[in-house]
Amino acid sequence: MKLFKEISSLRNFLNEKRLNGITKIGFVPTMGALHEGHISLINASKIQNQLTVCSIFVNPTQFNNTDDLAKYPKPIEDDINLLIENGCDVLFFPEVSEMYLNDEVKKSVDYGNITNYFEGKFRKGHFDGVVMIVKKFFQIIEPDNTYFGQKDYQQCMVVEKLIQENNLNIQLHVCPTLRENDGLAKSSRNVRLTAEEREIATIIPNTLYYIKDALQKKPLKEILINARQQITAGSNLMKLEYLEIIDAKSLNPLSEINETTHAVALIAAWCGNIRLIDNLILTE
Ligand code: PAJ
Repeated sequence: MKLFKEISSLRNFLNEKRLNGITKIGFVPTMGALHEGHISLINASKIQNQLTVCSIFVNPTQFNNTDDLAKYPKPIEDDINLLIENGCDVLFFPEVSEMYLNDEVKKSVDYGNITNYFEGKFRKGHFDGVVMIVKKFFQIIEPDNTYFGQKDYQQCMVVEKLIQENNLNIQLHVCPTLRENDGLAKSSRNVRLTAEEREIATIIPNTLYYIKDALQKKPLKEILINARQQITAGSNLMKLEYLEIIDAKSLNPLSEINETTHAVALIAAWCGNIRLIDNLILTE
């Protein structure tokens, strides 16, 4: 695997590859502390491209909580080994000073409901930072394909808009959420849960599965009341931020579901000091 910390040397390498006949480059952006969810994106890229580039960059502009940024795990040696084991071709892991100018200002992004609700509302400025960094990566790497996880449902929608808005010739692939055996979505933040919190956190996927199961049996309003109660009922370690059943495209909360509805359940909850998000597609 080739390792780059500088934009110019990565660019030179990719240009040379293109001159030598590489026509399909896949790109997987990450913030490191890699797990099987990330690796599933690398695998998806390897199938469809001749060259797979992964980036590891804990992007400061997308954190709205300084403690979360400071405590974000950074096991770079383990990450490099995992990427090598899984056949990733290129790793780009720049310093903050390589990606941002000292006086660079964060531009506010307005993609309507996508950036105003849920993660956009509860993590003010988060998507501004995501758009800022992903756009930079796209401009540097110029990939043909890029791979994102459904785990971050709104992020996928934001990236889709970013590509459309800038007329980029990049195909976005949304890959399924990988879960632990007990259903908890794999996340770099899971290692920061205590043993007790880790056990309690399974209420999140269990509630999502309850919602999907209850859809045919109960009115939506009742399902939502039950589901919200379920999250906090078992332990005072759990605090619910939002739990909503929404239209998959508009993100508007739904009051009923019929044969034509594409519904998704979105959830964000605190388990102790760790904020977890998850979602489940209810009707395709
Ligand atoms: P990070 O949280 O490291 O996630 C990198 C990619 O892995 C994202 O597309 C995310 O949705 C995906 N991912 C995370 N957990 C997953 C799981 N359990 N199953 C499948 N895919 C999963 O998302 C970011 O980093 C950043 O916002 C980034 C896009 C890199 C911009 O800084």
